[in-house]
Parts: sequence; structure tokens; C-alpha cells
Amino acid sequence: MGDGLETNGAANQSLPENGTVDLPAPRMESNTSIEEAIAARRSVREYTGEPITIAELSQLLWAAQGITSPEGHRSAPSAGALYPLEVYVAAGSVRELPPGVYRYAPDGHRLTRVREGDFRAELAEAAVGQESVRAAAADIIIAGVYERTTGKYGERGVRYVHMEAGHASENIYLQAESLGLGTVAIGAFDETALQRIMGMAENATPLYVMPVGRR
Ligand SMILES: Cc1cc2nc3c(=O)[nH]c(=O)nc-3n(C[C@H](O)[C@H](O)[C@H](O)COP(=O)(O)O)c2cc1C
Repeated sequence: MGDGLETNGAANQSLPENGTVDLPAPRMESNTSIEEAIAARRSVREYTGEPITIAELSQLLWAAQGITSPEGHRSAPSAGALYPLEVYVAAGSVRELPPGVYRYAPDGHRLTRVREGDFRAELAEAAVGQESVRAAAADIIIAGVYERTTGKYGERGVRYVHMEAGHASENIYLQAESLGLGTVAIGAFDETALQRIMGMAENATPLYVMPVGRR
């Protein structure tokens, strides 16, 4: 199942000076029904090592937290529409995207570079040596900023942020299925190490690592 997204043209391995990358627009159609994607979804931990395309990465990030309404609502539900999630990418083998750590900006559907270089091996170490993290073309990290939600909902907001990470993660799973890619939701990792490797703000807590690759 699944049909990959191809991009045209030669790989462009340099970023503009300001370190931001406008992602290709996500597409709104596919040959995979939502029922087929749900039925076929499995955790996939082994990948071929071939690169994914920036269009595929764009599609996955849109599925996770893309803006889907003029009011700024997103692909996944959010308590009070407060949007506490931050999505990061450790890209290693993505066509037309230099290896690096990037932060996804839903507004404008862009990536902003946080660090240059390939951090997949370091991330795998932080994730108790899990090979899927090292072998992925890219690792998507879902982080939560609790205070955005606890400000309104108090301690209960912590639960809400975790629930929301689940929504975003499932969207990535189903989108990967539709693209013919493999992914797995990873919860076993050293939070502090991951935060450091990804150059995250101190108030962003990593909740999930989702390696993505060709299967
Ligand atoms: C909260 C959570 C944490 C998980 N952590 C890991 C993990 O650290 N490593 C891993 O390989 N799989 C992890 N998984 C994936 C589960 O092992 C997987 O979903 C389960 O075996 C069921 O298989 P399926 O996803 O193919 O249906 C996690 C899943 C969840 C929901």
C-alpha cells in the first residue's frame, strides 16, 4: 500500500542564509483510504536506508501538526486550541534537505534549522540504543510545552498534552502508511539527552521519537 511523493529536480543541499526552508505544499489526495491506512498500520522498525523526499517529510509534518483551517486549527485536536506541541526533525537522509536538526513551524509550513549535521546516531544512543532511530531517514520528535495548557487547565493540562502527542503520533503513523513509509512510536529514551541533542527550549519536553524510513 501507499504511493510515494516524488520531487523534481536535482538535490539542493544548501539552505538559505536565514536557515529556514519552505516545505512543499502537502497534497490532499491519495490512493489509500483512511480505512486501509488504519487496517494496515503497523510499527515498522527496519528501513532500506534509501532517502525519503522533502515532499514526504512535508506531508508527515503536516499530518502531525499542519494548519488545516483559516482560523489556525491544526490536523490534530488540541485542548482549548492551545497547541502545546512542538515538532522537531533530525534529518539525515532526506532529499533536498541538508542533514540537521529542524523545528517545524506550522504557521507558514516551514522548517527552521536548529543545528547542522547528522544526529541520528546520537539520538539512537539517547533512545537506549534503538537501531530504528539510527537507521531512519529522519527522526521526527514530538515535544510538549506543558505551560501552554496547564495555564488554563491546571495540572490536568499535563494529561491533555500527552493525549495530544498521541493524536499527532497516530496521524504520522497513518500518513506514513499512505506514503508507503515505515514508522514507529518510541517512548523509551533519556529525556534530558534528547532535549540537548535537539537543541530544544528548556520548557519543551520530548514525548515521542518517530523514526521514518523506506520499508
Ligand atoms: C507509548 C508507546 C511507547 C512505545 N515505545 C516504543 C519504543 O520505545 N520502541 C519501540 O520499538 N516501539 C515502541 N512502541 C511501539 C509498540 O511496541 C507497538 O505499538 C506495539 O508493539 C504494537 O504493534 P503495532 O504498533 O505494530 O500495532 C511504543 C508504543 C507506544 C504507544
